[in-house]
Amino acid sequence: MNETLKWFKSVGVERFINDKYFATVKDNSTVKYSENIICNDPLSNITTLEDLREYIISIDHPLKKAATNTVFGTGNTLSKVVFVGEAPGHDEDIEGIPFVGQSGQLLTNIMHAIGIEREKIYITNVVPWRPENNRTPSAEEIKFFKPILEKHLALLNPEIIITLGATATKAVLDTTAGILSLRGKWIAKRIDGKQYQVLPTYHPSYLLRLSSQKKTVWKDFLLLQSKMEELRISIN
Ligand code: URA
Repeated sequence: MNETLKWFKSVGVERFINDKYFATVKDNSTVKYSENIICNDPLSNITTLEDLREYIISIDHPLKKAATNTVFGTGNTLSKVVFVGEAPGHDEDIEGIPFVGQSGQLLTNIMHAIGIEREKIYITNVVPWRPENNRTPSAEEIKFFKPILEKHLALLNPEIIITLGATATKAVLDTTAGILSLRGKWIAKRIDGKQYQVLPTYHPSYLLRLSSQKKTVWKDFLLLQSKMEELRISIN
C-alpha cells in the first residue's frame, strides 16, 4: 500500500470522493475534513490493478467484516470486453473469484455459445464483498463502490462493458432507469474522459429463476458478437 494511503488509513479515513475526503471517527460520526488539508484522492495515485486490489483490501467497510474473501476480478486483464456483475455470492465469497457458482456456470455457457472462452475476457463486480444473505447492495453501497469500479475499468481500459443486471447497470451508467428499459441497447458512456460501449443485459441468476428469459439474453449476446466484429475485437 502506498505511504499516503497508509497514513490516511491510520487516521481513520475510510472514504474518498475526488479531492475531498470523509473520515469515520471512533464515535461513528462522519467528519468532513476541510479542503485546506492537502489531500489527494488515493484512487488517482493508483496506477496498477494490483495496487487497486490492495487498496480495496485496506478499506474498512462493514461488508468486509462478514466476508470470507475479497472478490476483485478474474480473467484476461488485457481483454477489450469486461463483464460487470453485482456482488459475490456464497461460492464466490469462499473462492475469492467472481461468478464461480451456479450463475457463473450459466454465464460461462452463454459466453461459450458465442465462442468466447471465459478466461479470455475479464469479469468483476460492483461490490467486492458478499452482502449478507445475498441481498442486493444498497444505493449507499453502490455509491461507495462506484469510484472504485470506475478506477478498475479505467485500469483495464476495455472498449465494451457488459453490465449484468440492475445493480451493475446502475453503477456503470449512473442511471435510475431500470434494467427492463435498458437491456439489449448499446449505450455510449463516457467515464473520466474514456468512452465505453455498454450493453446492459439480465443477470444470470435471474435466468436461473426465469429460464424463459434465456432467449432474450441470447439475443443480447448476439449483439455483443456483432459489436466485437464491428470493432474488430478478437478474443481467442
Ligand atoms: N452474482 C454476481 O453478481 N457476481 C458474482 O460474482 C456471483 C454472482
